Amino acid sequence: MGAREDMYGLFTSVNEINLTNDQGGQSAKEGTHKKNISTSYDLQARMSKKGILWNWGYHDDQVAKEISARIPGFLDYDTDGFSEELYFAALREVPLGLDDYADKVVLEVGCGLGEGLNFLSRVVEAKSMIGLDLSDQAVKRANASLSRKGLRYVQGDAENLPFEDGEVDVLVNIESAHNYPSLEKFLREVARVLKPGGYLTHVDLYTTQRHTFLKELQEQDLGLEWVLDRDISPQVQAAIHGRLAPDGSFHKALREQRVGAIQRHMAKRVGPEAVGGSFAGYTDSGSTRLLKRMGVLPSQFMPPVDSYRHYVAKKI
Ligand SMILES: C[S@@+](CC[C@H](N)C(=O)[O-])C[C@H]1O[C@@H](n2cnc3c(N)ncnc32)[C@H](O)[C@@H]1O
Repeated sequence: MGAREDMYGLFTSVNEINLTNDQGGQSAKEGTHKKNISTSYDLQARMSKKGILWNWGYHDDQVAKEISARIPGFLDYDTDGFSEELYFAALREVPLGLDDYADKVVLEVGCGLGEGLNFLSRVVEAKSMIGLDLSDQAVKRANASLSRKGLRYVQGDAENLPFEDGEVDVLVNIESAHNYPSLEKFLREVARVLKPGGYLTHVDLYTTQRHTFLKELQEQDLGLEWVLDRDISPQVQAAIHGRLAPDGSFHKALREQRVGAIQRHMAKRVGPEAVGGSFAGYTDSGSTRLLKRMGVLPSQFMPPVDSYRHYVAKKI
């Protein structure tokens, strides 16, 4: 299967998962979705530059200030800092002090290349931090470049977590759950692996359908008490605008890439979608519309995202 087919598979699956209320009842379909998703992220893991995070980001001046106060010089790395801000914003709402992690086990589900959790390891000193991802290649890269005492990465599935009951104090989940065929299975696993009194902090993009489904799940007895429900769309859109500005990191990365003029032209026009462009109001360029009509590009990359949300839940 080529790169184009891999990406098509991802878009098809993500659209289907987020636009239907079929929440994973059919295991054959679930298997196809997961295969599409892991194959595509394996490919992205092989192609990504070191230090890259895979989320749409977040920007808020106060959060940026708090990060700089906690980690002086944190922008001296080759990122625009927006993706790290999303991680920080997710962790700061967990009702524990940032200095109270010494005896805590932190698990990130859907850790990608591991850079977000590595960033959090600079924010808090936890007893141990474990990142889990479906993509075998992402986990291999994370372990090769980032693992050390107290920080490791494992391959696994959010809907079937390879941990004992009550093993985890804080479970972090950043822009990953829109890939899971069954949000319910994931939340049941979260409740199982969290210690009583432990916390889930979850941020993700939501279609109207998926959000309605989450609200229904929140009414069920999953063993979780929902303590925060915040629409963080404005902060996420601020980061997307920052990235896509002429002097932003999206165009900077394109300028640095050693690719031909046609590839650069295409990436400039098609790429914004991958970093949340349509959610921030960017519309397709003429060339993108043409390629979609010709069937070279999928007619819909991401599902129509209605909001980007932050939830915190406490294990009862
Ligand atoms: C948009 S990326 C976000 C990665 C990371 N959290 C970040 O912000 O950089 C989504 C990640 O979720 C992972 N993922 C998708 N489905 C998964 C599943 N069922 N179990 C675990 N990870 C999954 C993907 O492999 C991918 O690394």
